[in-house]
Amino acid sequence: MARELTEVGVVGLGTMGAGIAEVLARAGLSVTAVEVGEDALARGRAHVEHSTGRAVARGKLEPAERDAILGRIRFSTALEDLAQAELVVEAVPERMELKTELFAQLDKICPPDTILATNTSSLSVTELSVATGRPSKVIGMHFFNPAPVMKLVEVVRTVVTEPSVIEDVEALATRLGKVDVTIGDKAGFIANALLFGYLNHAVAMYENRYASREDLDAAMRLGCGLPMGPLALMDLIGIDTAYEILDTMYKQSRDRLHAPTPVIKQMVTAGLLGRKSGRGFYTYAAPGSAEVV
Ligand code: 3HC
Repeated sequence: MARELTEVGVVGLGTMGAGIAEVLARAGLSVTAVEVGEDALARGRAHVEHSTGRAVARGKLEPAERDAILGRIRFSTALEDLAQAELVVEAVPERMELKTELFAQLDKICPPDTILATNTSSLSVTELSVATGRPSKVIGMHFFNPAPVMKLVEVVRTVVTEPSVIEDVEALATRLGKVDVTIGDKAGFIANALLFGYLNHAVAMYENRYASREDLDAAMRLGCGLPMGPLALMDLIGIDTAYEILDTMYKQSRDRLHAPTPVIKQMVTAGLLGRKSGRGFYTYAAPGSAEVV
């Protein structure tokens, strides 16, 4: 019988973390959302306020429900506030040293039976698990962007993850209104392993000037029925995040499919990070906006 988790934490309130905090609070859980500093925390809170505000404007959410959702999220800059959490989802940037350091800290702060989950897209969950004294309670819980909309959660088990922990996380995914799939600890798991070769190829076609960004995107939307073209999707994911995912998968497999197309790194260096910075392959009305100008 799966444990019904009620007190949860999210660490890192970027695009994914803020979306995950919203999803958890929408399902009625009590969420402690932690960021490193006040500015990042304010951006995370603004992200959730904006997303739920948009749902109200579209008539999908009552204003009182929105207030209740926001009321269930305690925003904090102190990891110690996670001392009561039964599960913590980590969504900090895709850098192993950052995540292992955080997991080691969480291991000290949280009770021994707290599940430590990572939203990593491509890093080794096993490597993260051994940064703690509880590898059997460490698991991957990988959401998709935008988290409040996309139905999938990849549940990533390592060779030592306890079956009951997998069950608890699968049951939580169901309560969140998501569909879960379970996969072993392989870079890119299922979806990113299949998606990013395609995205990388699209960027290479653009870099080689075979087609305009609009035509590349239109071909995949209108010819293949995808909700978004590859370059618009790169902007949604974040060019920096996409780079980290490709680079990690490439280093693990040495498959040229995942060797990051040079322009991706150049864009990251130049600060063209996609929607979140206001400019990527397209230019947006404002940072975080979906409106192309
Ligand atoms: N946050 C919250 N809700 C959002 C949102 C966001 N950023 N963007 C859109 N939505 C909601 C809208 O409010 C709307 O909700 P409603 O139907 O309840 O009113 C619904 O999504 C549809 O939005 P729109 O009508 O504005 O726009 P679209 O119909 O074009 O949908 C989209 C937008 C959902 C982003 C769609 O284009 C899509 O599915 N794109 C593909 C996304 C995708 O492939 N994601 C996976 C990326 S890979 C990944 O995340 C892995 C990671 O490891 C990198």
